[in-house]
Amino acid sequence: MRYENIVVLTGAGVSADSGVRTFRDNGGLWEEHRVEDVATPEAFTRDPELVQRFYNLRRAQLATIEPNPAHTALARLQGEHAGQVTIITQNVDNLHERGGARDVLHMHGELGKVRCVRCDAVHTWAEDCTQQTACPGCGEVPALRPHIVWFGEMPFYMDEIARRLRDCDLFISVGTSGNVYPAAGFIAEVRSAGYAHTIEVNLEPSAGVSYFAECRHGRAGELVPKLVHELLTE
Ligand code: OAD
Repeated sequence: MRYENIVVLTGAGVSADSGVRTFRDNGGLWEEHRVEDVATPEAFTRDPELVQRFYNLRRAQLATIEPNPAHTALARLQGEHAGQVTIITQNVDNLHERGGARDVLHMHGELGKVRCVRCDAVHTWAEDCTQQTACPGCGEVPALRPHIVWFGEMPFYMDEIARRLRDCDLFISVGTSGNVYPAAGFIAEVRSAGYAHTIEVNLEPSAGVSYFAECRHGRAGELVPKLVHELLTE
């Protein structure tokens, strides 16, 4: 393969073929819930039980969904490519890992973790979490919040992501509408470094489509396995 360091950015569209609702499509999550009610620090201060319930439902859904061919193809790319393949995801589900990927950078957090606002410990979590649940580390109540990056909060791993973007020679964006920064700006960062090839894979052209050198429009579950096959056999 002519590429050494590959960075793949994924969004809700990569999990859509697993039955996970996206945010901004018709029937998307943000049609039913206002971001200000469930996905900001202010919402958690105002009505923590509502916010906990919203994420408890989504956490419980993890047990009912399975990785699709896009997840397993990206894991295959990671496993078979001689160079580095970094998966950066905006998704809070665990389908990349369950599809076999490793070292996934969950820049918007993970449904399968909670964080203590008293002692800062992060705990792997599969159950419901309420304001009555004690932190397993410090024992305080109430203490636990979803380990999710809400609007107005700083995404995780930004220094590491900046390094990987600067060093990549292939940047692939899969299933993201390109509306939410900083992820929406990664393509501009890659382009300013000047030498990487850039590919968008999305159901429809994203907000940033014009910045990509190559675009493939259709379902991630079909297009990503094809792309991975091409890359591994070229
Ligand atoms: P969006 O819902 O904004 O965009 C999903 C994109 O996936 C759309 O452009 C769809 O066209 C595309 N899509 C849908 N089905 C697809 C399929 N089967 N195959 C390929 N593409 C498909 O989701 P994100 O861009 O991931 O943040 O949203 C970014 C962030 O906004 C999320 O991480 C979340 C949200 O608010 C937080 O909660 C912090």
